[in-house]
Amino acid sequence: MAAAQFVTIGQLAKRTGVAVSALRFYEEKGLLDPIRTGGNQRRFLRGDIRRVSFILIAQKLGLGLAEIEEQLAGLPHGRNPTVADWQKISRGMRSQIDAKITLLNRTRNQLDQCIGCGCLSLTKCQLYNKDDKLGLKGPGPRAVLD
Ligand code: FES
Repeated sequence: MAAAQFVTIGQLAKRTGVAVSALRFYEEKGLLDPIRTGGNQRRFLRGDIRRVSFILIAQKLGLGLAEIEEQLAGLPHGRNPTVADWQKISRGMRSQIDAKITLLNRTRNQLDQCIGCGCLSLTKCQLYNKDDKLGLKGPGPRAVLD
């Protein structure tokens, strides 16, 4: 049996694990655009489950609400997005995701080493960052950020 095309806010909350209040907040911010029934109840497209799931993933990736809004603006309103619609977003985010992977890898590999922050407080700092030469590249933990 085919799944219903529309879901209630309660069904959307249950399936995504996102509170009804948060879904209303996303609606206020324009991230979701449900239709209204004659009785003024919200009905969401099943595709909105994927939209909310994208928001959850994007938040875990560290994207702010404004950035998420910008990404979702590329999706159509009033119909479920197609694979091609999602591919546009995926292509647009690839470089951001790659940059985050690089930062996570550097952090994982370097956090217990000298991170080039200018503190010179570890024995290894004199080896990796003698006289704080990394500070010439700018502020912050240069060994991780560069
Ligand atoms: S950890 Fe700060 S300069 Fe090495």
